[in-house]
Amino acid sequence: MQEAWWRGAAIYQVYLRSFADGNGDGLGDLAGLRGRLDYLSKLGIDAIWLNPWYPSPMSDGGYDVADYRSIEPIFGTLAEAEKLIQEAHERDIKIIIDVVPNHSSDQSAWFQEALAAGPGSAARERFWFRPGREVDGGPPNDWQSIFGGPAWTRVPDGEWYLHLFAPEQPDFNWNSPAVREEFLDVLRFWLDRGVDGVRIDSAAVLIKDPDAEPDGLDPYTDRDGVHEIYREWRRVSDTYPGRFLIGEVWLPDQERFARYLRPDELHTAFNFDFLSCPWDPAALRRVIDDTLATHTPIGAPPTWVLSNHDVTRPVTRYGRPDTSFDHGDRKHGMTSDRDLGVRRARAAALLAMALPGGVYVYQGEELGLPEVEDIPDALLQDPIWARSGHTDRGRDGCRVPLPWAGDAPPYGYGGEPWLPQPADWGPLTVEAQEPDPSSMLNLYRTALRIRRDKLGDGTLTWLPLGEDVLAFTRDSGLTCVVNLGRQPVRLPEHQQICLASGAVDGGLLPSDTAVWLL
Ligand code: GLC
Repeated sequence: MQEAWWRGAAIYQVYLRSFADGNGDGLGDLAGLRGRLDYLSKLGIDAIWLNPWYPSPMSDGGYDVADYRSIEPIFGTLAEAEKLIQEAHERDIKIIIDVVPNHSSDQSAWFQEALAAGPGSAARERFWFRPGREVDGGPPNDWQSIFGGPAWTRVPDGEWYLHLFAPEQPDFNWNSPAVREEFLDVLRFWLDRGVDGVRIDSAAVLIKDPDAEPDGLDPYTDRDGVHEIYREWRRVSDTYPGRFLIGEVWLPDQERFARYLRPDELHTAFNFDFLSCPWDPAALRRVIDDTLATHTPIGAPPTWVLSNHDVTRPVTRYGRPDTSFDHGDRKHGMTSDRDLGVRRARAAALLAMALPGGVYVYQGEELGLPEVEDIPDALLQDPIWARSGHTDRGRDGCRVPLPWAGDAPPYGYGGEPWLPQPADWGPLTVEAQEPDPSSMLNLYRTALRIRRDKLGDGTLTWLPLGEDVLAFTRDSGLTCVVNLGRQPVRLPEHQQICLASGAVDGGLLPSDTAVWLL
């Protein structure tokens, strides 16, 4: 039997409103993406994951969904989405969509209905409405929103509703059969339209009970009941051969994480331990070993992720004195050595792409874009900025529209970008990088091409080359060596250097450099 395509896939994340703007309104759209499919085809990826594309007031960049069966008009139409799926398939590119089951938009028909129907109504049962606490009518409990501030907002009739994220994102009550039915139907709606995979947003926090007495467990993260939901989803997706489910599961405990990947649940989940890990050989080795130890026994392929629309861009992160990532402290404004960051990001890319399993590339990572840290306060859009009382600048810095060509904004992106692009991005455009064999873009292109037939799913064998070095051989015989130490190291015996992230001289691999050998 042919191996499932997604097990070793290279998946490119398109943050639609910043990818390419086809109609000149400054916001990326489906027309822009359809116009750039050849770019993605040439990059050598297997699939595109699109962040939510549904009608949305954009209080959280589209993660506040008003209608799960339609397309946001600023992005285009359902007919265009169907065309995109078709045109991608013609190029052998699969399409993965993002489904947001934890919460909707406060503008969704269901939430508006719940507001109008009032306390005790069936419409309110689909969300978490509660009276205020007896003593003073305040919020029903002390839960805090993940974006900062209380997780409850009061409505005019005196009831409060729960939102683990922004107030514009009311949480669904997954004890409600109507909610469960609705999402099974949404899944079928998109699978029927030919999407190949579904990314599940905030997948571990669906089950909660605000009335329960504290039982020592986290009141909403990773409650046991969540697994039954994914078993139901899996039963639906299994009726569509070749499709897969990927969970956004942030959990520190690898054994709990692995429970989401049991054979009758999700097919894969994002590996955030790898993304959060500092640029340190022992720490990375531990994360890789733990990841393999978690996934191998259950037969699920690991995923390797260096960035996404929620985290600091790698070239900035890896140039800082502290190279780890943590949602609680984004280290905004910490000094970053750009050259060092770029060198390490190049090496990290070859590491991630050589490891067994699937790999994710977030748009702009292949161009080596840095985090934009000087967006004027007044232009910041991420709800984290306001919700944190203007202490956390949030995630806009990794969401700045892509530079395609030319030497000044908007760099061929389209209209005036919804977040300002830096004035010095001329050398980072696709146009500027294309002819340069040593550019980040060409490193990614070559790596993805080699990866197609020599890497992906499978196993690895570690090579003992010293404690500062990560070195392993893959099933195809390709060896990856990454030097994370300060001193150059001698390469193991080889016939050919297939690819190097930096200059390799006289058989010595410099600091912060990776090679692929045969
Ligand atoms: C996920 C998304 C993030 C969003 C949050 C709430 O973590 O990746 O962008 O803000 O869910 O939907």
